[in-house]
Amino acid sequence: MYSEKVMDHFMNPRNVGEIADADGIGEVGNTVCGDIMKMYLKIENNTIVDVKFKTFGCGAAVATSSMATELIKGKSIEDALKLTNKAVMEALDGLPPQKIHCSVLAEQAVKLALTDYYKKRGIDPEPIVGKIVDCEGCHHGEENS
Ligand code: FES
Repeated sequence: MYSEKVMDHFMNPRNVGEIADADGIGEVGNTVCGDIMKMYLKIENNTIVDVKFKTFGCGAAVATSSMATELIKGKSIEDALKLTNKAVMEALDGLPPQKIHCSVLAEQAVKLALTDYYKKRGIDPEPIVGKIVDCEGCHHGEENS
């Protein structure tokens, strides 16, 4: 059911943890499966110098968040904003259809962390990051409780 890459990122997830002085934090969850993903970014000179994540969720959620961190680490904010769930899936050699929403969470967690980054700096994030459109069952951090 899962590719070797998915299994690898699930068994040995990269960049797990938190960044205490993160410049942006994004948290998303999915009410249907109950999984939660939290992404921490450290940004210097428009570059994502460090990224960590914590995922309380299924194996595909762990694998997609791990891959998402690998794809944006060391990249510019502009490049990170271009990260799509499709790119994450392709990098993992695909996901089963019922697990596609897990990769959507990974994309949204990155975008929300960047939204948070701009908000913290007093910049309106929407023209830059765009509107975060919820996937079915997805919700954002604040609505978690
Ligand atoms: Fe919902 Fe994976 S089953 S994030």
